[in-house]
Amino acid sequence: MNLLVEMKGIRKSFYGVEVLHGVDFHLQAGTVHALMGENGAGKSTLMKVLAGVHKCDAGEIAIEGRPVEIDSPAKARELGIAMIHQELSPVSEMSVAENPAICWPRSTSAPPSSPTCPGRRWSGGGRSCCGAPPAG
Ligand SMILES: Nc1ncnc2c1ncn2[C@@H]1O[C@H](COP(=O)(O)OP(=O)(O)OP(=O)(O)O)[C@@H](O)[C@H]1O
Ligand SMILES: [Mg+2]
Repeated sequence: MNLLVEMKGIRKSFYGVEVLHGVDFHLQAGTVHALMGENGAGKSTLMKVLAGVHKCDAGEIAIEGRPVEIDSPAKARELGIAMIHQELSPVSEMSVAENPAICWPRSTSAPPSSPTCPGRRWSGGGRSCCGAPPAG
């Protein structure tokens, strides 16, 4: 089986309390997965380990079969892994599509107009939507 992401035996404790008890998690390319569990089950913690926010205490991660050490969000991004964190304070002037794109680096080319508000233009390399109508 061709695995895009393979997490094996992931363990993570906070202040001596183990919240991930040897979790295995596999993603296949071209598929969409939902990670479900009750509040406090450790879903966010597992994704934060994958995204380089938390370092796991034990376990292995492989990307396309290659073992990797994801020790920072920057390293995760290099590997093509991005995480949209649970955000309780979205920018209300921006659309649903624009809010997650707020942290796009300026060098990243952004779509010419907002996918959800075609009358709006992106500005600042995807950082904000100025609300101005498209030129011409
Ligand atoms: N930074 C942290 N410091 C201490 N404990 C934490 C930290 N992050 C998470 N925890 C604890 O780890 C456990 C798992 O939390 P986590 O946020 O991963 O759960 P979750 O499955 O994402 O929950 P929810 O459905 O509420 O989003 C919880 O007991 C939580 O209190
Ligand atoms: Mg969560």
